[in-house]
Amino acid sequence: MSEKHDVTGAPTTGHVWDDDLADFTNQPPKWWMLGLAASAIWVVVYWLYYPSVPLPTSNTFFKGVGGWTAIKEMEADKGEVDAVRGKYEAKLKGMAPAAILADNDLTEYVKRSGKVLFGDNCAPCHGTNGVGTKDKEGLFAPVLNDDDWLYGGKIDDIYASISGGRQSMMLAHHPSERELIELEHMEKLGLPGAEAHNIALGLTPHQIDAVAKYVLALSEGKGDSPEVAPGKLVYMSSDCTGCHGLDGKGNQAMGAANLTDNIWRFDGSLEGIKYTSSVRLN
Ligand code: HEC
Ligand code: HEC
Repeated sequence: MSEKHDVTGAPTTGHVWDDDLADFTNQPPKWWMLGLAASAIWVVVYWLYYPSVPLPTSNTFFKGVGGWTAIKEMEADKGEVDAVRGKYEAKLKGMAPAAILADNDLTEYVKRSGKVLFGDNCAPCHGTNGVGTKDKEGLFAPVLNDDDWLYGGKIDDIYASISGGRQSMMLAHHPSERELIELEHMEKLGLPGAEAHNIALGLTPHQIDAVAKYVLALSEGKGDSPEVAPGKLVYMSSDCTGCHGLDGKGNQAMGAANLTDNIWRFDGSLEGIKYTSSVRLN
């Protein structure tokens, strides 16, 4: 019910409270009314243009007159990315790694795209940015962000590591019980490898202890100290030299670690070295 305000005479809604408070019936400002109408129109247009209402009977939905789908939008975005990447990717096909690195533009490109590829494919084992990952026996996958390489750090060595994969062949010298069971199975089945294992078996715990002390001394530059002479004897007279070399500096052709640099992929404590010298690595 519309009434007039006592004092101003302006029309009110007729609702009075607290004795003398009343609502005027003024219209909201014009700009506001226009905005309200425009948003109502916008809702209808938007609703018609984009997929909106599920249609319960046909198990589908109103697809919208604009034909928009999320997949189409994603493909258009991907098309834009591919257009930028395409020219680099086409050049890279069949190029040797060293040739790529000789080209500044391509180097810049592979550094960026390689970072993504590394995150997707390699980081689960080698860790974010190649920091390596540890399991209870030490490092599971080697650190890649230092300058110490099992298989060589030249671009072609690294390329070979990635494209062909690597499996080092440090054999067990004092196998764990699990390895003995595995070995027994291998022998029973006549699998290749069992024989190779046999060759490497056979250091006593005492010899393992001595050789591990020698290896630790090597990494401290004290390989010639008389205290580790017994271990040196074991090292020199067993198969260690065949892979790690007479000087213990390792052999990148077979991924045999450098034992003199005090950089350890596995546990570098005496107990750790005893363990790595006993069991089969990888
Ligand atoms: C399933 C785990 C795993 C994944 C995934 C993996 N690596 Fe490795 N990678 C290893 C292990 C373990 C070694 C050590 C092999 C050995 O010594 O027997 C290694 C060795 C390497 C080496 C040699 C390191 C050296 O010191 O010479 C390089 C280089 C390397 N990986 C790069 C990569 C790249 C690049 C990727 C991704 C494309 C990748 N790896 C994915 C586990 C992995
Ligand atoms: C058939 C070759 C071979 C023989 C023989 C061999 N090693 Fe190894 N050794 C390797 C390889 C390959 C690695 C690297 C394993 C890896 O990181 O994947 C290795 C790794 C090690 C490591 C771990 C180094 C680290 O960074 O943590 C120690 C310690 C070691 N060897 C000691 C010995 C001792 C002691 C002997 C002799 C009793 C010996 N190895 C005999 C191939 C050999």
